[in-house]
Amino acid sequence: MFAHIFLASILIISPVLGQNDDIEVAPYEVVETKASYEVRDYPARKWVSTDNAAKDIHGGIEHSVSFDRLFQYISGNNVNNTKIDMTSPVTFFIQRSDDPEAEQEFTMSFYIPAVHQDDPIQPQAENVYIEDRAGFRVVATEFGGFASSEDFEMAAQDLYESATADGFDLITETYYNAGYDSPYTIFNRRNEAWFVVRAV
Ligand SMILES: *[C@@H]1O[C@H](CO)[C@@H](O)[C@H](O)[C@H]1NC(C)=O
Repeated sequence: MFAHIFLASILIISPVLGQNDDIEVAPYEVVETKASYEVRDYPARKWVSTDNAAKDIHGGIEHSVSFDRLFQYISGNNVNNTKIDMTSPVTFFIQRSDDPEAEQEFTMSFYIPAVHQDDPIQPQAENVYIEDRAGFRVVATEFGGFASSEDFEMAAQDLYESATADGFDLITETYYNAGYDSPYTIFNRRNEAWFVVRAV
């Protein structure tokens, strides 16, 4: 299952994500550094997004289907027929479910490069859209390796326990997964789980 996604992803993203030290990262400010997580403020920014649903978001075919829609957009399938630089991270906004058999709705997104933030190029495909993401505060925990859906959920459980013990009021019906690397990156891979901190 994993190998299949891995190979599909290599074919799709290796040309763009090969040298990920150079790619633009969505901006954020670290508000506080805790032992196992960070508190961050993300400013309001635009992302390009697509919606899907899967039982296993990171291990199922839906992952590469969604990725391909966004990849087509940055490759020129947009109203200007313009190539747009790859950015990181790729985020997944997930409706969490207690039922392991249920499909979870998720939104996969690429950050729109700063040069296009003011006037994003409109997508051509109907299932790809520009998302006006409001600014928010998150608690974020980082882990390495090739991350499965279970790895993200386990990181989220630990994050939930630590941050709640520290007094944070988190929105837990949804959470974000963030991935920073191409499948070619073997070492020092960066994956994150984020919970949005409820505004007071
Ligand atoms: C995309 O096309 C529209 C309409 O022709 C134009 O107004 C806009 O400036 C173009 N954007 C870029 C980045 O080329």
